[in-house]
Amino acid sequence: MFSKRIECLINFASDSTSVADIGSDHGYLLIGLAKLKQDIDLLGVENKLGPFLQLNKNIRLNGLKDRIKTSLSNGLVEVSDTYKTIVLAGMGFNNIKKIIDNSIDKIKNIDEFIIDSHTNLYEIRKYFNNLGYKIIKEKIIYEDNIFYCVIKFKKGHEILKEEELEYGPIVLKEFDDVAKKYFENALNHINLILNKIGISAEKREALIKQKAYLENLLGKIN
Ligand SMILES: C[S@@+](CC[C@H](N)C(=O)[O-])C[C@H]1O[C@@H](n2cnc3c(N)ncnc32)[C@H](O)[C@@H]1O
Repeated sequence: MFSKRIECLINFASDSTSVADIGSDHGYLLIGLAKLKQDIDLLGVENKLGPFLQLNKNIRLNGLKDRIKTSLSNGLVEVSDTYKTIVLAGMGFNNIKKIIDNSIDKIKNIDEFIIDSHTNLYEIRKYFNNLGYKIIKEKIIYEDNIFYCVIKFKKGHEILKEEELEYGPIVLKEFDDVAKKYFENALNHINLILNKIGISAEKREALIKQKAYLENLLGKIN
């Protein structure tokens, strides 16, 4: 039994035939995929020895040593062109960007990215959009009092509006109960910041605009 976030990552990667999970740590995503599908190439990459040893141990304990390859290496550096789906989960935007920028020549061979960034989703969507990927799946997950947003990008082009970069084109379209809670939380957060003294006029103006957008959005579906 995996967490809702891991289940979502497994689900988003389940139609792929080759998946490299960068920053695998415990390896649950790869273990879940190996149990779900026979015909899938799986690689777990870790750049730290502790998590790398844990990854190998969990793979062994699950009897999946022949199904999942592992690599103690940095980001995409040692990942071969045969891996068409790359997962980067449980990291912040800066690290995700650093990992890709560091191997930018490799992205011509990558069909899909599955991203669970814990920071700056606006920049994440903008960055992948500029790299030539479009969003094909998005899901908001609420677990242990934290909101996560898992995004699947596929090679392709799309033009995203500012609010779509901020909140996600599919999240906005599908608008399920969890997404509603997510927007309510975002609105509360904006109100908290607006009540603080010392924020710049420029930031205040941007927040007021976002607040009006969210109030309108929530008003519409209430
Ligand atoms: C918070 S854990 C997330 C684990 C798992 N992906 C998840 O979503 O639950 C982040 C992992 O990424 C690894 N990591 C960070 N930067 C990395 C890099 N450049 N290359 C490979 N692994 C990296 C860390 O060692 C850590 O184990």
